[in-house]
Amino acid sequence: MRFTVAIDGPAAAGKGTIGRAVAARFGFAHLDTGLLYRAVGARVLRGERAADAALSLTPNDLADPDALRTPEAAQAASKVAVIPEVRDALLDFQRAFAHRIGGAVLDGRDIGTVICPGAEVKLFVTASAEVRARRRLDELLLRGLDVEYQSVLEDVRARDTRDAERATAPMIAATDALTLDTSEMSAEAAIAAAIAAVAAKHSA
Ligand code: CDP
Repeated sequence: MRFTVAIDGPAAAGKGTIGRAVAARFGFAHLDTGLLYRAVGARVLRGERAADAALSLTPNDLADPDALRTPEAAQAASKVAVIPEVRDALLDFQRAFAHRIGGAVLDGRDIGTVICPGAEVKLFVTASAEVRARRRLDELLLRGLDVEYQSVLEDVRARDTRDAERATAPMIAATDALTLDTSEMSAEAAIAAAIAAVAAKHSA
């Protein structure tokens, strides 16, 4: 059985939380595609060329996801994400993951538009920049990082602009995506809405 759930949306909108919950509920595999771009960005911060890093990415580059979930890696990710060669290099892996037997959830920016235009379910998860920055701040503080609200908000805004305005695979809701604005929704309510959307198309 092949079944793909595409979850897109701006920075720190809760795509990962929703994606993991949907995957657990339906027994699907989950891929946080942002980690691929973060891993490329991290290698660029260490002095590599972006396209070379993307072409030679290995599971080892993703072995410590928390090390990639920093504001520095996020900014570096959104800078390499504008480069068409980088996106091309990561395309086949993401498509193969999406079509795996047993079902898959992918979250990112261009899953419903470019990676899996035929996905059975497409969600576009969003919230105000202030709410997203607050949630990301709480996440980073819990992990012991030394960050401030204002700089997290600036990071979120800078990435949103770069991601939405790039020429290749810009962040945009697919025309057939269900938009979930979670500004005033709890994580539980957002997860329930996403599960309901998947359940409407999938019986398990
Ligand atoms: O977790 P958060 O939403 O803050 O970011 P992420 O999903 O880890 O993505 C980091 C960056 O990678 C984004 O700002 C995008 O520039 C880029 N990205 C992308 O271009 N396409 C994707 N499918 C996923 C991420």
